[in-house]
Amino acid sequence: MTDTVELENLIGEQLQPHLDALAALRIEVFREYPYLYDGDTGYERNYLRTYANAERSFCVLARDGADIVGAATGIPLEDETEEFIAPIQAEGLPVGDIFYFGESVLRRSYRGRGIGAAFMREREAYARELGFRQLMFCSVLRPETHPRKPAGYRPLDAFWESRGFRRHPTLKTWYRWRDLDDHEETLKPMVYWVKTLS
Ligand SMILES: CC(C)(COP(=O)(O)OP(=O)(O)OC[C@H]1O[C@@H](n2cnc3c(N)ncnc32)[C@H](O)[C@@H]1OP(=O)(O)O)[C@@H](O)C(=O)NCCC(=O)NCCS
Repeated sequence: MTDTVELENLIGEQLQPHLDALAALRIEVFREYPYLYDGDTGYERNYLRTYANAERSFCVLARDGADIVGAATGIPLEDETEEFIAPIQAEGLPVGDIFYFGESVLRRSYRGRGIGAAFMREREAYARELGFRQLMFCSVLRPETHPRKPAGYRPLDAFWESRGFRRHPTLKTWYRWRDLDDHEETLKPMVYWVKTLS
């Protein structure tokens, strides 16, 4: 990791002063393939409020001086909204045992220096400390031939697998957002990745 970047762990309401910075970073990074999210500050405010209001939520910030250049979040699944809990509950999984990873977002020029791996380590350590048994997150599925897929695009699947996550064979859901090329929101298929903590 570069020595100009420092990590800072925040719990629950400690995230409050950083909500605008985190929203801006999510909008910047999720414009990229495969998310292609045409950022919506109303959606961001609503989504991030859940994290800031949950006592046991977690965020690791990456700072370069005064700039927040990356962040990763997590939350006990039972503290998420119904939209996030329902598909997992419907699969019969033990919601109370699951710590859910919200996102990892890192400004492009800071990638490839181990910060993403540190985001994974910090969140896992926190979830273990609180006694959770499973980690879970979801990622979007795009068609192989998607016109916005950049040449040489490398999916993160191998990274997640190397950190002990496996794609859940059946669990799926759909989230709604507006893609860069669209006029309205459409549903996106989301697949889940799971890691059981021993
Ligand atoms: C996910 C993300 C935070 C990882 O950050 P990072 O600091 O570049 O990650 P690291 O440097 O710790 O590298 C992690 C691993 O990913 C690999 N990797 C690095 N860049 C990659 C790329 N562009 N594509 C695929 N894998 C990559 C590295 O080889 C490394 O693997 P290894 O540890 O097995 O060698 C960053 O890529 C990002 O913000 N991506 C866009 C948002 C996103 O897709 N987030 C995940 C879903 S919410």
